[in-house]
Amino acid sequence: MGKGFFISKAVGIAAIIVGAGALATIIALSVVYSQEKAKNNDNVLPTDGGTTSKPPVTTTAPSNEPWDKYRLPKSLVPDHYNVTLWPRLKQNLTTGLFIFTGQSTVEFVCAEETDLILIHSNKLNYTKRENNHLASLTSLGGVKAPSIKSSWLQQVTQYLVLQLDGKLMKDHRYHLHTDFTGELADDLGGFYRSEYMEDGVKKVVATTQMQPTDARKAFPCFDEPAMKAIFHITLIHDLGTVALSNGEEKESSNVNIEGHDVQKTVFQPTEKMSTYLLAFIVSDFSFINNTIDGVLIRIFARTPAIAAGQGDYALNKTGPILKFFEKYYNSSYPLPKSDQIALPDFNAGAMENWGLITYRETALLYDETFSSNSNKQRIATIIAHELAHMWFGNLVTLRWWNDLWLNEGFASYVEYLGAHEAEPEWNVKDLIVLSDVHRVFAVDALASSHPLSSKEEDIQKPAQISELFDAISYSKGASVLRMLSDFLTEKVFTMGLRTYLAEFAFGNAGYTDLWSHLQMAVDATGTDIPETVSNIMNTWVLQMGFPVVTVNTSTGIISQKHFLLDPDSEVTTPSIYNYEWIVPIKWMKTETIQHPKWLKNESVTIDEMKVSGSDWVLANINVVGYYRVNYDQGNWERLLGVLSTNHVAIPVINRAQLVDDAFNLARAKIISTVLALRTTKYLNKEREYMPWESAVGNLDFFYLMFDRSEVYGPMQDYLRNQVTPLFTHYKSLTDNWKNVPVGHMDQIHPNLRSTVYCNAIAAGGAKEWEFAWSQFKNASIAIEADKLRYALACTKQPWLLNRYLEYTLDPNMIRKQDATSTIVYIANNVIGQSLAWDFVRARWSYIFTQYGGGSFSFSNLVNGVTERFSTEYELQQLKQFKEDNAEVGFGSGTLAVDQSIERTIANIKWIAENKQNVLDWFKAEEKP
Ligand SMILES: *[C@@H]1O[C@H](CO)[C@@H](O)[C@H](O)[C@H]1NC(C)=O
Ligand SMILES: *[C@@H]1O[C@H](CO)[C@@H](O)[C@H](O)[C@H]1NC(C)=O
Ligand SMILES: *[C@@H]1O[C@H](CO)[C@@H](O)[C@H](O)[C@H]1NC(C)=O
Ligand SMILES: *[C@@H]1O[C@H](CO)[C@@H](O)[C@H](O)[C@H]1NC(C)=O
Ligand SMILES: *[C@@H]1O[C@H](CO)[C@@H](O)[C@H](O)[C@H]1NC(C)=O
Ligand SMILES: *[C@@H]1O[C@H](CO)[C@@H](O)[C@H](O)[C@H]1NC(C)=O
Ligand SMILES: [Zn+2]
Repeated sequence: MGKGFFISKAVGIAAIIVGAGALATIIALSVVYSQEKAKNNDNVLPTDGGTTSKPPVTTTAPSNEPWDKYRLPKSLVPDHYNVTLWPRLKQNLTTGLFIFTGQSTVEFVCAEETDLILIHSNKLNYTKRENNHLASLTSLGGVKAPSIKSSWLQQVTQYLVLQLDGKLMKDHRYHLHTDFTGELADDLGGFYRSEYMEDGVKKVVATTQMQPTDARKAFPCFDEPAMKAIFHITLIHDLGTVALSNGEEKESSNVNIEGHDVQKTVFQPTEKMSTYLLAFIVSDFSFINNTIDGVLIRIFARTPAIAAGQGDYALNKTGPILKFFEKYYNSSYPLPKSDQIALPDFNAGAMENWGLITYRETALLYDETFSSNSNKQRIATIIAHELAHMWFGNLVTLRWWNDLWLNEGFASYVEYLGAHEAEPEWNVKDLIVLSDVHRVFAVDALASSHPLSSKEEDIQKPAQISELFDAISYSKGASVLRMLSDFLTEKVFTMGLRTYLAEFAFGNAGYTDLWSHLQMAVDATGTDIPETVSNIMNTWVLQMGFPVVTVNTSTGIISQKHFLLDPDSEVTTPSIYNYEWIVPIKWMKTETIQHPKWLKNESVTIDEMKVSGSDWVLANINVVGYYRVNYDQGNWERLLGVLSTNHVAIPVINRAQLVDDAFNLARAKIISTVLALRTTKYLNKEREYMPWESAVGNLDFFYLMFDRSEVYGPMQDYLRNQVTPLFTHYKSLTDNWKNVPVGHMDQIHPNLRSTVYCNAIAAGGAKEWEFAWSQFKNASIAIEADKLRYALACTKQPWLLNRYLEYTLDPNMIRKQDATSTIVYIANNVIGQSLAWDFVRARWSYIFTQYGGGSFSFSNLVNGVTERFSTEYELQQLKQFKEDNAEVGFGSGTLAVDQSIERTIANIKWIAENKQNVLDWFKAEEKP
C-alpha cells in the first residue's frame, strides 16, 4: 500500500512559531515539502455478527482443530477461480442495505490427502446448495468427489469449513462452487461503496481494498499471499456504468438477469497472482488514455475531474516512470494495461492492485490552479511507489506477511528514484532523509520499538498483519535498503535485484532470497565488503533500533551505542547482536571526502580520524547510513565554526543532519540542549530548504512544550531574527512576491493557499468560517477540499471548534477517511488542544464502537491529541482516561496510550531540567 493519512503538521506549527511577516517564506517552504508518511492502515478487524456460525464442538477449552488456526493447511492448492460479482448501487429500501451477490468456482489441486476443505470467507451469507450445504464439490477426471458431511462458517478465523465423508486424493483436481451475498458497506475494506455528489445527485461507486486480508470479504478464497492463482472475473453492472478489474475487458454485453436489464463485462484472465492484489470497480467515471510501447495507460476519476484536466499530470508521468522501472528491473511490464483510478473514499494513500491501482483523490489528481508543488511531488512519488510494486510485490511476492517490511521498504526507497525520473529537476532523492530517515529515527529510538523482521509464527491474526503497516516497515525499510544500495553501489544492487526478480517471477520469495541474489552479484563483481550481505544486513533487520556513532577526533576512537531517546528507558528485548551493528562509515575530513570505513565492533581506532588545529571531521556523508553521529566537544565547536563562517563547506543534507542529530542527542542527554540550540544560529545565512525544515521540525518540540509559557515570547523573537534574512532573500528573488521562482526548491507562491486560508479563518468569525465550510462542502477538487478542511481548524473561536469536532463523527459532514486527521488538526491549534482532548475523552466509547471496525486510526488520534502534554495535571488526566476506558478498550491505539503516558512523563522531566536554560539562552540571543 501507499502512504496513509496526510497531516501537514509543519504548516500549522511554522505559522504559529514565527509570527506574521517573515513567516510567509518558511511556511511556503513547509507547504511545499511537508510530506508525511503516517501509519498506513490501522484497521482492526471487527468481530462481526453478519454470518451464521455453528462450530460443531461447543467446548470452553481451547480447541486445536484445523479451523481454529489462522493459517491454511498445505493440503489444497488453488489453480484458478471463476468469479462473477454483481454489486447493487441502489439501497434496498426494505433492508436498508447495499449488497452484492456472487458466484464462484475455484479449481484446486489436492497436494496432501485430506477430508477437510478450509477456505477463507468473512461476512458472506451463502445460498444453500445440494443437501442444504453452503457449497458443492465436483471432481475432475472421471472420479467421484466425496460428499459433504457438514459445512459451516468459522467466524473468528474467517473460514468456510467443509467436512467430507471421504478423502480428496493427492494430485486430483476438484471444483468448489458457491453462491453468496455480501454487504456493500461504507467500511473501506473488501468490496465496499464510496459515495459522492455530482450536480446535486448522489452517486455510488463499488470498489475494493483487499490488502491485507479482505479478499475473503468479497468471495471465498485461499486468502494468503503464497496461494497464487489465475482469476477469471466477470462483473454484472447497471447499464451505462463502467466495470474495471485487473485484466483487460474481453467482452461486454447487455443481458437480462432476474428481470433486470444489466451489462455483463467479462475480463481477460489475470496472470498468476495473490488474492490481496485483486480489484473490482463499478462506477460512472470517465478516463483519459495513452499507449506506451503497446501498454494501455488510463487514468479514471469522477467525470468533472477528468474534464477539468486533473488526470493529465498523472497520465503524463505514468509512462516515463513505468519505462524507468522496466530498465531498473530489466523486466518488461508484465501486463497489457495499467489503470489508475482516484476514489472519493479511500483509506490508505493508494493500493498497488495489479493492473488497477486505486488512489485517494489527493494522491492522483493534480490541478494547476489549486494544487501546490508539494501536492505534485506527492503525486509523482506515490505513482512511482505503486508502479514499483508492479514487479516488487506483485510479480514476485513475499511468502508471508512477516516480510512485509521488504515489500514496503523497497517501494518506499525506489519511489524516490522513480519520482526523480519524472521530475529530474527537483532533487527529490535527497528528501528521503527528512521524510523517512529522520522521521523513523524518532520511533526507532524508543525502547518500545521493534525489529524490521518478525517471526512468521508471531504474525497470524488479521489484526497482527495490519499492525505491520507502520513507519518501521515503510521508512526504516527504505532507509536500510538505501544504505545497502549505497555500500554495494547501485550497479551491484540492481544486478542482484534483477536476477532475484527473474528467478521468482509469478512466485513467492523471502528476504533471505534477495540477500542470496545480492551476494551472487557481490561475488561476481568482486565487491569489497567486510562480511556477507546477510551478516551485515541481519544486524539491521533482526534487532530494533540503531546506533549513535561517536567520533572522538582527539583520540581517533570510533565507538557505537544503541541510541535511546530516553536514556532512562529500559530495553527488555534481548538481541543476539547485543545491540551492535556493522556500520558503513562515509566521512570527510575538512573539505575532502575520504575512503569509507566500517565499524564492526563496539569501538575501533581509526588514526586518520584523529585531527588537530582547525581540521574537522564529518561522518555519515549525505546520511546514507542509518545512524546518528556524535563528536568530541572540540570537533562540535569546529563544526559550529564552519557553519557560521562557511556553511557551504558542509553538504546540505549534512547541515540538516547536524541540526537533527544535535537536537536528538540533547533529548537523550548525550549533549547539552544549549549546544543543540547553537546549531540553529547559522540559519540566518541558510537559504536551503532541508536544514530549515530540519530545524522547524525540531523546534516543533520546543513550541509544543513552551507555547503556553513565558519562554514563548523570547523564542519567537529569536526565530523571527533568524528567518528575516531568508524572507528578504525570497522577497528580492521574487521581485517583491510578483514572480514565481523556477527551482522546485525555491517555490513560494504555489501554495500559500493553506496559509492564507488558515490566517483568514483565524482572524475571522462565524461568517468567515461558514463561508469556508460551504466552500469545503462544494469543492470539486479534493486537494482544495483538504486545504479548507485543514484551515477550518485554525479558528480561534472555541464554539466553532467544538462544533467542528462534532462534525467529525458525522460521515455526512466529514468523510470517515478524514475524521482522525481533522481532530488532530484541531488539537494542533493551541486553543483547540484542550477541546479536542475533552471531546475524545467524552466520546471515546462512542468513537470506539462506531468507528472501531476500520477506517479510524486510533494511534494517530491518541498521539495527536496528547502531543503537548507536559504537566502533572495532564498526566493524571491521561492515566484517568486509561482507567476509565479499560473496559471499552483502545484497539489499535493501545500502544499509543502507553506511549503517550511515557512521553508525558519524559516531557515533564525535560521541562524541569531545561526550561530555565532555554529561557536564558533565548533571552541572551535577543540582545544585540
Ligand atoms: C430487498 O430485500 C428484500 C429482503 O431480502 C427482498 O425480498 C427484496 O426483493 C429486495 N428488494 C429489491 C428491490 O431488491
Ligand atoms: C473458468 O472459465 C474458463 C473460461 O471460460 C473455463 O475454461 C474454465 O473451465 C472455468 N473453470 C471453472 C473452474 O469453472
Ligand atoms: C446475512 O445474514 C445476516 C443474518 O441473517 C443478516 O443480518 C445480514 O443482513 C445478511 N447480510 C446480507 C448482506 O444479506
Ligand atoms: C484511447 O481510448 C479511445 C477510446 O477507447 C481509443 O479510441 C484510442 O485509440 C485510445 N488512445 C490511445 C492512445 O490508446
Ligand atoms: C501534460 O503533457 C502535455 C504535453 O507535453 C503538456 O502540454 C501538459 O501541460 C502536461 N500537463 C500537466 C498537468 O503536466
Ligand atoms: C536482462 O534480461 C535479459 C533476459 O531477459 C538478460 O539476457 C540480460 O542479461 C539482462 N541484463 C541485465 C543487465 O541484467
Ligand atoms: Zn506500498
